[in-house]
Amino acid sequence: MATPKDKKENLENDRLVSAVVVDDDASFELKLRPRRLQEFIGQSKVKENLAVAIEAAKSRGESLDHVLLYGPPGLGKTTLASIIANEMGVDYQQTSGPVLQIKGDLTAILTNIRSKQVMFFDEVHRLQPALEEILYSALEDYKLDIIIGQGPSARTHTMDIPEFTFIAATTRAGLLSAPLRSRFGIVLRLEFYTTEDLKVIVVRSAEILGIEIDDAGATEIASRARGTPRIANRLLRRVRDYAQVRGEGKIDQPTAQAALAMLEVDKHGFDEVDRKLLLAIIEKYQGGPVGLNTLAAALAEEPDAIEDIYEPFLIQIGFLNRTPRGRVATRLAYDHFGIVPNRKQSSLF
Ligand SMILES: Nc1ncnc2c1ncn2[C@@H]1O[C@H](COP(=O)(O)OP(=O)(O)O)[C@@H](O)[C@H]1O
Ligand SMILES: [Mg+2]
Repeated sequence: MATPKDKKENLENDRLVSAVVVDDDASFELKLRPRRLQEFIGQSKVKENLAVAIEAAKSRGESLDHVLLYGPPGLGKTTLASIIANEMGVDYQQTSGPVLQIKGDLTAILTNIRSKQVMFFDEVHRLQPALEEILYSALEDYKLDIIIGQGPSARTHTMDIPEFTFIAATTRAGLLSAPLRSRFGIVLRLEFYTTEDLKVIVVRSAEILGIEIDDAGATEIASRARGTPRIANRLLRRVRDYAQVRGEGKIDQPTAQAALAMLEVDKHGFDEVDRKLLLAIIEKYQGGPVGLNTLAAALAEEPDAIEDIYEPFLIQIGFLNRTPRGRVATRLAYDHFGIVPNRKQSSLF
């Protein structure tokens, strides 16, 4: 039987403007992934914070403090983790919450830590609580408690591990326990990118892929990428296909517009699910407020998927509000669909 998680993933695989990694993205992304802080576009506050912390740690000859990166998918968390390792000149290893199932898995990783290395831990909010406790002392004092033997003769042995940098990423910082959160010296939130920044990313990626693109073509792709580099790169790849097959092998504005129209990505980067979500609030629930679970049921989606993937961007561009009583569609959403709000609906704005 398909679990909710499978369902979410299947759905994501069909979705062109999804911010989550889909099957054939991996090798493509690797090629386009910036390796140095200098090449990382935008997020100036995050970059500055990191640059200072890295330089300070290096000049003291210490490992970098533990780092927590949070924000919606596709904004560069994994990329930054590997950039940090490169800039520090240390080894890099990665794992994730869902991958680690038993204590032994985590203990094995921690006993093999090399001095000052980066350990990148993705989806840290999905770490099992029993494993979390092992991490506390490893992160705080670089000590690991291991149990030797079984039953009454079991003994606990405390082992020293080398100093290292733990970099955790999550889309749901709110789900982290307070003790885990307090272990991070550096906490950075990634924001959606401006169209200007995304345009720079698109131009850079086009250069790497060897496809010619002009300014207006890059702007067209950037403005439909939902503030997300991963989506910008994915759209670029599809527009490139179109330009090579139907156009003259070069991306200008008319080519980009025609390709994106064919792919049914509208001027906000909305797809069917975004439209369905907003229209359900407006038409089925009179503009809201409607609770997350009710909305999820109406759309046959998982509440988690709605909260993590669809809503953040709709909120960011001002189409949706989260209120204590539920989700509310804004005037911009009505305007987008050419629907005139009635008096009760207007009173919510
Ligand atoms: N600031 C950036 N500058 C250039 N490219 C970026 C940037 N952030 C992300 N990307 C691109 O977007 C892709 C997805 O980023 P990733 O780090 O995997 O996101 P996350 O881990 O937050 O889901 C990367 O492969 C990279 O090509
Ligand atoms: Mg990632």
